[in-house]
Amino acid sequence: MPSNRTRLIAGNWKMNNDVPAAKELASALVEKVSADNGVEVVVCPPTIDLACTSHKIEGSAIKLGAQNVYWEASGAYTGETSCAMLKSVDAAYCIIGHSERRDYFHETDADENKKARALIAAGITPIFCCGESLETREAGEHVAFVTAQIRAGLDGVEIDSADQLVIAYEPIWAIGTGKTATAADAQEVCGAIRATLAEIYGEELAGGIRVLYGGSAKPENIAGFLAEEDVDGALVGGASLKADDFAAMVEKAGE
Ligand code: PGA
Repeated sequence: MPSNRTRLIAGNWKMNNDVPAAKELASALVEKVSADNGVEVVVCPPTIDLACTSHKIEGSAIKLGAQNVYWEASGAYTGETSCAMLKSVDAAYCIIGHSERRDYFHETDADENKKARALIAAGITPIFCCGESLETREAGEHVAFVTAQIRAGLDGVEIDSADQLVIAYEPIWAIGTGKTATAADAQEVCGAIRATLAEIYGEELAGGIRVLYGGSAKPENIAGFLAEEDVDGALVGGASLKADDFAAMVEKAGE
């Protein structure tokens, strides 16, 4: 990995941990996660846990991310959360375009595009997820599919600096299945993502944007992914729910 990109390890808790459990995990992470090994660390709890997690990690090196946002500023949108609300609990990041949102909640590239615009305007960095199904991969269309998601999701989305955007490549067939992509699989797509970002934003900005791998990433396999040129960190689901495993992954990212 070129040295100008700071590695990023983000934990996606998904729909796990009620408020007491979130407080417990956040406190354990503050205790166990290395504070100064040069790795940026983010936790993304469910919306209801954002405020208590923010409180627990205050003053630590761990940053807060949300798992979802709505693009309108305020109003009659029952059940939704605005960018300003995320800002009010000091969220610095927000996951968008996760395959679970696209599949179970029917979110489209156009929705992700509106979320990306609203977040960047609010000063929150989107962690923009993309990834192909097993069927698409077996048809050999994974690179074309993922780069099309990037082009559509980021169409007209402007940034002035590379830290305003993070991409997470998560092959759907590797999420929560225990089945990981190989490091070479991850590099093939992450490299293609960076080339697409260069077409959109120019070489210089694209060279600074972090591209993460996600999908059954764990302490035992993270080093292999991080050794690849275009993999700058990981979006971690299952293994982010165990403080020891998550801390171990941050440790390995700093080596
Ligand atoms: P996983 O999830 O690590 O449990 O596979 C990753 C993700 O969906 O972000």
